[in-house]
Order: sequence, then structure tokens, then C-alpha cells
Amino acid sequence: MSNKIALIMGSVRDSRINPKLTNWILESVMTNEQRAQVEIIDLLEWNLPFFDEPKSPKAALGKYEHEHSRKWADKIKQYDGYIFVSPQYNFSVPAVLKNAIDYLYIEWTKKPATIFTYGFGGGGLKSQEHLTIILGESISMVLTQTKTPIVINGSVNQSTNEQLQELFQPSLETGKKSIHELFDLLSKNNKVSA
Ligand SMILES: Cc1cc2nc3c(=O)[nH]c(=O)nc-3n(C[C@H](O)[C@H](O)[C@H](O)COP(=O)(O)O)c2cc1C
Repeated sequence: MSNKIALIMGSVRDSRINPKLTNWILESVMTNEQRAQVEIIDLLEWNLPFFDEPKSPKAALGKYEHEHSRKWADKIKQYDGYIFVSPQYNFSVPAVLKNAIDYLYIEWTKKPATIFTYGFGGGGLKSQEHLTIILGESISMVLTQTKTPIVINGSVNQSTNEQLQELFQPSLETGKKSIHELFDLLSKNNKVSA
């Protein structure tokens, strides 16, 4: 049974490497069949202001004051599951991603998700840890047990496809496992998409 999955790109700065990681996840980690169920959500295209709703999203129960919040909610609520692709900024999640998450509650809660992070050294383990708390504990999404850290270097944007394959290779099996777990969770969860 086909699912609708959103892959959320967690950085928006000029010269970001996020598209390289996103592309690798879609092309190398996922199978054709899995990839066909994914839509990309690029926060750069959303340009959400800093969270400005009068009610907390948990209290708002999907009824939002501002047009931009309603549009964001309408987009997010249509997916059965989510893949977060986030860098680590100052040992945490980029503000733009945290802000986009903060806007909503019922649109996310109880739904399956997995987390890919990237950074130097540990591959964004602090970002992974913080996202796990935000999504798993606060918003009560159903997270895959396996999450995927990806170690990067300073020349990702200058690297050839072959060099990137080699650089990201150590995360390939973990990534595949996390996606497998995501689809497993999706098969047990109520679908929202038609
Ligand atoms: C504001 C900022 C803070 C950063 N902090 C960390 C960090 O804590 N750990 C880390 O491994 N890399 C850190 N980096 C390096 C990023 O991992 C690297 O720049 C990566 O390319 C960011 O992803 P992006 O290009 O998709 O924005 C930081 C980068 C920025 C811009």
C-alpha cells in the first residue's frame, strides 16, 4: 500500500549542502519503490516567519490564526510519515527547522518519522539527540529506533558524485535500516493520505 511521505530539508542558507544529502538519501539509501512515495519539502520555499500564533499549537487543535500557519498545516497534515534531513548548528537543530516544527502539533503527532543528521565528527549527533527529544518526546511522533548520522567534510559541494558516495558510504546501511523501520511503522499506522 502506497504512503505519502514528506522529506523535510532542514537548512536554507546560501550554499547549503542539504540538497546533496537529500539527493543521496533519495537515490542511494531508498529503493525506487520507496522513493516514489516521497515528496520534498524545502523550507527555503516556505519562508515561514518566526512562530507568531497566539495559541500554542497543542492548544490550537489545528485552528490557526495566520494564513501562513494554515497553509503550512494544510501541507504537513497530508503526509503519513516524515524524513527529517538536518544539519547540526551549534550542537543543535537549525532554528529554521525548529521554527517550522514548532508551528504545528496535531499535524505531526502520532505519525512515523525518521531522522538523518549531518555534521563533522559525529555526523550531527547532538542535532539527532535534540530532534529525538523534540519530535519523539514533546510532539509524540513515532520515531524509528534507528536514526542516521552522516559524517561530512568541508568539500561536499565541490565533490563529485563518486566522492560523495564514498564519503557517505559508512552511513548507507544505517540509513537503509532506518528507512526500512519507517516503512514498517507506516504499515502499522493509520494512513491519512488517500
Ligand atoms: C551556524 C552553524 C553552526 C554549526 N555548528 C556545527 C556543529 O555544532 N557541529 C558540526 O559538526 N558542524 C557544525 N556546523 C557545520 C555544518 O555542519 C556545515 O556547515 C554544514 O554544511 C551545514 O549544513 P548546510 O550546508 O546544509 O547548512 C555549523 C555550521 C553553521 C552554519
